[in-house]
Amino acid sequence: MKFIGTKTLETERLLLRKIKKSDALKAFTNWCSSEKVSKYVVWNKHETVETTEKLFSFWEKEYEDLTTYRWIVEIKDNHEPIGTIDVVSKKFLPYSVCEIGYCYGEKFWGMGYATEALKAVIKFLFEECEAEVIFADHLSNNPASGKVMEKSGMKYEGRLRGRMIDKEGKRNDLLSYSIIKDEYFKN
Ligand SMILES: CC(C)(COP(=O)(O)OP(=O)(O)OC[C@H]1O[C@@H](n2cnc3c(N)ncnc32)[C@H](O)[C@@H]1OP(=O)(O)O)[C@@H](O)C(=O)NCCC(=O)NCCS
Repeated sequence: MKFIGTKTLETERLLLRKIKKSDALKAFTNWCSSEKVSKYVVWNKHETVETTEKLFSFWEKEYEDLTTYRWIVEIKDNHEPIGTIDVVSKKFLPYSVCEIGYCYGEKFWGMGYATEALKAVIKFLFEECEAEVIFADHLSNNPASGKVMEKSGMKYEGRLRGRMIDKEGKRNDLLSYSIIKDEYFKN
């Protein structure tokens, strides 16, 4: 796999670009402070904008490491940031395997944005970074995310039993999806 860092990606309606500290207020308002958004992810909602600022400031510096693939997603027409998508773990990168995660503000759900962004990231990782496998997991009670993965060309691989404790404190299964290089280039 080639490590070329986070490049700006453009789709029909979206711009995927590097996150800046100055995006914190919009991100806090649109998704980081939301209980609904954080329900199905590993992080907890941010109580204050300072938490978002600290995180984004750290992430801004992390781009110096070219194994970092993390985008803020904005609507091209009005530059409104709506969420993030990233390679969430670097531990599989030595094997050319990328694990993807994403989250979007609830105002922007149901408009196909998550799918549009995931497709662009899959394209970039296979075509420009020479990734071999791209995968993502979602909690069993978050089927919308599985739909996004499927619509982006990923295949359901299986159920990782009891792999996560959800926000209700219950042990929960993860459903895992992936797409491999050969499959991607065949289509
Ligand atoms: C999951 C999430 C990314 C979806 O984003 P989105 O922009 O609404 O996704 P899209 O519009 O591209 O597609 C969503 C699909 O899920 C479907 N869907 C929505 N709720 C659903 C449900 N309860 N069961 C099954 N499918 C559902 C939609 O109908 C749509 O499919 P369609 O286009 O065939 O109608 C978004 O809700 C989110 O950010 N949630 C909070 C964070 C999160 O869960 N991140 C993922 C962690 S694995």
